[in-house]
Amino acid sequence: MISLQAAAFTCEDYLKRRLSKDEINVLISESYGHLLDNISRAGTAPGTVVASPSQQNPNYYFNWVRDAALVMEVVDDPARLYTYVDRALDEQAVPTASNSLGETRFKIDGSDSPDWISPQNDGPALRAIVATAFAQRLLNEGHRDYVASRLYQAGLPNYSLIKRDLEYTAHHWREPSYDLWEEVYGLSFFTLRAQQRALRAGADLADRMADGGAASFYREQADQIGGKLQEFWDGNRGYVVSEIERRWGGPSKDSGLDLAVVLSANHFTAPGEPFGPTDDRVMATAFHLQQRFAQIYAINKIPEFSGLGTAIGRYPEDTYDGHITGGNGNPWFLATNAFAEFCYRASTAYRHSGKIQITGLNADFLKSLGNMTGADLRPGTALHAGDPMFAQIVNALVSEGDRYIGRVRFHMHLGHMSEQFNRDSGYMQGAFDLTWSYASFISALKARP
Ligand code: NOJ
Ligand code: NOJ
Repeated sequence: MISLQAAAFTCEDYLKRRLSKDEINVLISESYGHLLDNISRAGTAPGTVVASPSQQNPNYYFNWVRDAALVMEVVDDPARLYTYVDRALDEQAVPTASNSLGETRFKIDGSDSPDWISPQNDGPALRAIVATAFAQRLLNEGHRDYVASRLYQAGLPNYSLIKRDLEYTAHHWREPSYDLWEEVYGLSFFTLRAQQRALRAGADLADRMADGGAASFYREQADQIGGKLQEFWDGNRGYVVSEIERRWGGPSKDSGLDLAVVLSANHFTAPGEPFGPTDDRVMATAFHLQQRFAQIYAINKIPEFSGLGTAIGRYPEDTYDGHITGGNGNPWFLATNAFAEFCYRASTAYRHSGKIQITGLNADFLKSLGNMTGADLRPGTALHAGDPMFAQIVNALVSEGDRYIGRVRFHMHLGHMSEQFNRDSGYMQGAFDLTWSYASFISALKARP
């Protein structure tokens, strides 16, 4: 049953030319408007970011710590960031069911939401990452007093936002928690990567705030997380798996493949760090994910639409249809956007390094890019800036990213994005106006070289 949405359109409408800067700015500001509509809505505590305005089937009218932090990453207006900090400080002080800073979400009045799956320990790390970037900016602008009182106080005990989240993260990363999809209890790649990034960025801030002892402690923990992360590399299968030491919960995830690895590469990698977009292990993982989703979703198999990027979901075995678990999993906007962002970031990283080393792990991904079919990319070859093939890959990554954006634009409706789009019909599905969908679109477009 394939009834095509907006059959009058062809995918060429989205692909006939490369995106211009003007067009990108229009897309960003349109999404930004929808995103802002979900922050500090009437009737919610100031600073609340609702995951979606949907209040039933599903009810996403809550302030998820993860969603809020990933959303605030693309917000640059200081007034909104100050209000976010106030909200986050209140959150840290609310007694919660999980009795930890890993509480997953809060009600719109700021109180605990005790019925939910907690702890999810990516939350404090993501909150620290966004607050640390804000703190660095404020320090550069001369607002040290505010940073020292609200964001980062040296010494213990204390009740400043970042320091508390960093202390929690540094002391609890070895413990299992629920993954970002709120299903599996164990150690998850995404959570550990978020924690590592939070601690590294936090250590730099700690140094700046004359808290040198803490800075070295955070760096030590980040290094130890780096050791743990190696366990996620599955050499037999040739890709990074998203969870280890699973205790309970969640559907069967036999493949171990998960968008989480791509999201982590986009969000948590400083230049030169492992598991970033040009790490060949991550490229291999992206390749396997794309290949699986190309097969799983009928909308990916329509010849007329083959010019669009592959619609991407959370993980191949997903059965959450946006309303119930146990149905058909679908492609997600934020997942498809993440693939666009991944391609853009890989292109930029290659350009900066001036070198592309072809390996047995990245060759398939690079050859699968739209403009690379048939290219002779032999493992062992090193390409350098100036080689025609180097330029071809760097450009092909941007075009591939544009195809993913084209896919997203084809399934969104008048600038609106829900959580998912149906794998057979292409129509939007699940929570409408999902705030994170907008943030992911903006963050992809901003990453476009
Ligand atoms: C199951 C989904 O897989 C999970 O991600 C979601 O948070 C819950 N249901 C609630 O909607
Ligand atoms: C379900 C997603 O799996 C989870 O990552 C998200 O935090 C919630 N929905 C709220 O958007």
